[in-house]
Amino acid sequence: MSLILAIETSCDDSGAAVVADGRRILSSVVSSQIEVHRVYGGVVPEIASRQHLESISLVVQDALDQAGIGLGQLQGVAVTYGPGLVGSLLVGVSYAKGLAFSLNLPLVAVNHLEGHIYAGFLQEDLPRFPLVALVVSGGHTSLIRMEDHGRYQLLGETRDDAAGEALDKVARALGLGYPGGPALERLASQGDPRAIAFPRSWLEEGSLDFSFSGLKSAVLNYLNSARQKGSEVDRAQVAASFQEAVVEVLVEKAVDAATRSQARELMVVGGVAANRRLRQRMEQRAGEKGLKVRFPPLELCGDNAAMIGCAAHYQMARGQLAGLSLNAVPDLSLTGEHDCCGGSGCG
Ligand code: KG4
Ligand code: ZN
Repeated sequence: MSLILAIETSCDDSGAAVVADGRRILSSVVSSQIEVHRVYGGVVPEIASRQHLESISLVVQDALDQAGIGLGQLQGVAVTYGPGLVGSLLVGVSYAKGLAFSLNLPLVAVNHLEGHIYAGFLQEDLPRFPLVALVVSGGHTSLIRMEDHGRYQLLGETRDDAAGEALDKVARALGLGYPGGPALERLASQGDPRAIAFPRSWLEEGSLDFSFSGLKSAVLNYLNSARQKGSEVDRAQVAASFQEAVVEVLVEKAVDAATRSQARELMVVGGVAANRRLRQRMEQRAGEKGLKVRFPPLELCGDNAAMIGCAAHYQMARGQLAGLSLNAVPDLSLTGEHDCCGGSGCG
């Protein structure tokens, strides 16, 4: 049995997990910073890195305890090295390097987006290639074709806001606080998705890129003009109609991408993949096209270290290891080379 300790600190959650053979999660601990950032209405990068610093040792120890193993039983240490907030990433990267060095273990550097995709590989029935993954989170909205382990092709991505970012901003305008996505989903469940005709941005014919800033502005304008006129706004109708506009574009483009690239399945991952309306509409539309769609379990949609441990298992099997000169790469991409260092972390 091959045991990997994985660490994830790319944004505001400190995660550590022990994953066996890339398949079985022996433990997955996530220490959320939501309460600390809530008063600011969003993640404050400087505070996030300080919080990671305080919690990292505890979270790692918790993960080992819950897995019932000691450091001596590990075969590798994995860590997210980008993309994300540089200060946050650096805490995990430095900690993982220290552990790997002192235990003389291989170090595996994992791309956060690749981690999200591998959340789909922590299930009984393994995904089949080629597949198309819609990575939909607070920082990303990307359609990626995956030919095989480690082989990715970018089919489309957002040109402005990520879907989760738009959800969070509109949630904030509706007075729903932080984090916005889950609260917006709850409010939307009380409204009619067809109540208000907000715009859908399809971009050029056949484009698999996304754009959510126009939709976000349309909702903010709707709220502002109602406020100026002194008219009452039905917040549930706004939430439901806005959520529907986001979901509809995600569903149509993802199903289109999977069909056009003859994918054997469509995988929907990342924080927004927890959204029930998205799950329901995606299942329905994919079903109409005879396409299999896969969502990771809810606890593996948001940021966690188990998905990083799973991705690391396959990377280790390919002999793709990092050196102790590894650095955080905040703008790391999955499909293109990082300009300065070829994706290996510039020194
Ligand atoms: O993957 P994630 O935890 O972090 C990033 O890598 O960004 O995604 C966080 C995003 C946030 O925008 C949050 O509002 C959104 O996922 N989210 C949701 C739901 N749960 C989390 N959006 C819609 N519905 C949800 N149930
Ligand atoms: Zn994420």
